[in-house]
Amino acid sequence: MADQTLMIVKPDAVAKNAIGQIVARVEGDGFVVRQLRMMHLSREQAEEFYDVHKERPFYGELVDFMTSGPAVPMVLERADAVPHLREFIGPTNSNEAPAGTIRGDFGTDVQCNAVHASDSSENAAREIAFFFGE
Ligand code: RTP
Ligand code: MG
Repeated sequence: MADQTLMIVKPDAVAKNAIGQIVARVEGDGFVVRQLRMMHLSREQAEEFYDVHKERPFYGELVDFMTSGPAVPMVLERADAVPHLREFIGPTNSNEAPAGTIRGDFGTDVQCNAVHASDSSENAAREIAFFFGE
């Protein structure tokens, strides 16, 4: 089986009507969508998902943002899925993300950056289980 990773189209990009454009980009880059759903995260779910950041000053705002509207988590598969998707979406801050990257083209700033992507194979497995079960 090829590697899998988890991507989330975040509430800012859903509100911009950009789900389809973002899915088309990753499909065009060789990813296959294996699972996908739309859901409005509860505070508890957002807090658990970003638990690694709970001591950070931006944690409360991050949870507010992630619960501000529906999001679209999906399982994406291709060779080198985790590092490849991180590279493809661009850096965290959309203001620093080059044109042509998903965050550069669809994000707004350091918080509203259009998408999440798993940062390691271990986290990909954990995050896929979080949204889609084992
Ligand atoms: P993600 O986990 O969503 O894929 O993003 P990332 O690895 O590129 O960045 P990370 O450091 O894990 O931060 C998680 C999310 O928190 C928001 N953030 N806000 N206000 C701030 O300074 C700040 N820094 C990060 C972003 O939505 C970021 O994606
Ligand atoms: Mg992260």
